[in-house]
Amino acid sequence: MTYIPRALIAEITHRCPLHCVYCSNPLDMQRRSNELSTGEWVSIFNQASVLGILQLSLTGGEPLARPDLTELVSAGHGAQLYVNLITSGIGLNESRLDALIEAGLDHVQLSLQDSQESPANEFAGARAHELKLRVAEMVRSRPIGFTLNAVVHRRNLDRLEEIIALAERSGAQRLEIANVQYYGWALQNREVLLPTREQLARTIAIIEAARERLKGRLRIDAVLPDYYAKYPKACMGGWAHQFILIDPAGRALPCHAAPVIPGLEFASARERRLRWIWEESPAFTLFRDENWMPEPCRSCDRRTRDFGGCRCQAFLLTGNAAATDPICTLAPTHGVVEEVLQRVDAHASSTRSWVYRSDPA
Ligand code: SF4
Ligand code: FES
Repeated sequence: MTYIPRALIAEITHRCPLHCVYCSNPLDMQRRSNELSTGEWVSIFNQASVLGILQLSLTGGEPLARPDLTELVSAGHGAQLYVNLITSGIGLNESRLDALIEAGLDHVQLSLQDSQESPANEFAGARAHELKLRVAEMVRSRPIGFTLNAVVHRRNLDRLEEIIALAERSGAQRLEIANVQYYGWALQNREVLLPTREQLARTIAIIEAARERLKGRLRIDAVLPDYYAKYPKACMGGWAHQFILIDPAGRALPCHAAPVIPGLEFASARERRLRWIWEESPAFTLFRDENWMPEPCRSCDRRTRDFGGCRCQAFLLTGNAAATDPICTLAPTHGVVEEVLQRVDAHASSTRSWVYRSDPA
């Protein structure tokens, strides 16, 4: 089978003014001195376009921390990619936003920690909430796409209706309600972040009602916590099926968490062409088809829909990246997930303090 990548996720820096307690960046982040140059990124964007990629997501860390961001947007646009900026908004002002739009920016995805200032700043580890609301005002008045990305978890899900109301007022066209996924820094804080079963049931009802009420005005997409699911998510739409992620130093990854898997070697986009990385590199081809699958995945009808779940999660929870994702209730290791959920129920009112993301030099 031939796979054509759909999107390039360019983590142009790991530097960030926020310290979110659920940051998906790796614990071992890339330093500024290792970051790809403007010219190296431009070459990667051009190769991505030739490979058939349509969308470029500029992310981080905080992409606005790169002073050459306007040049990078211009290069992505010049390579005929749809350019999406995934940002906390910190570092944006009217003139910089106008320059980015002039350079070809198509879409802004702004993160939101909460509807209320105090908990929002607590989760971000920085005083950012007020500024984000001002950035939302700026973006809504420009002719570009606007998504608000609300990250939700046990400590803010009880304010979900307020968060939806804020999104409605913000002028965003789309709201993504993204339950925390448990990799990187989020895994460190999992016991405090995982919602309770009751919260999850309320969340689903609130989202369904809001979708009905806001039909045609605000599109709502939701990512639910897969720890409560019967079957796992099709992580990244399948390993190396749709996305190429390049980290700040040029390492090419099938997903943001892949470096946790020991023994995988990731080619550098500094040294290898993107086409070779996509079509031939061992890290991209290892879990792409079905040859690696163990039972029960190998003979399961769902394997073409969820691809056996998430390889990184399988490793993080079982120590074996080639195991069935233990989220799956059919997996022989599903008990590890049940144990985590029992701990969540037992510590639902825990006020344990956070592990905050700390920055690379
Ligand atoms: Fe998916 Fe494997 Fe579970 Fe089947 S057994 S639902 S393919 S994870
Ligand atoms: Fe790596 Fe799911 S995060 S495969």
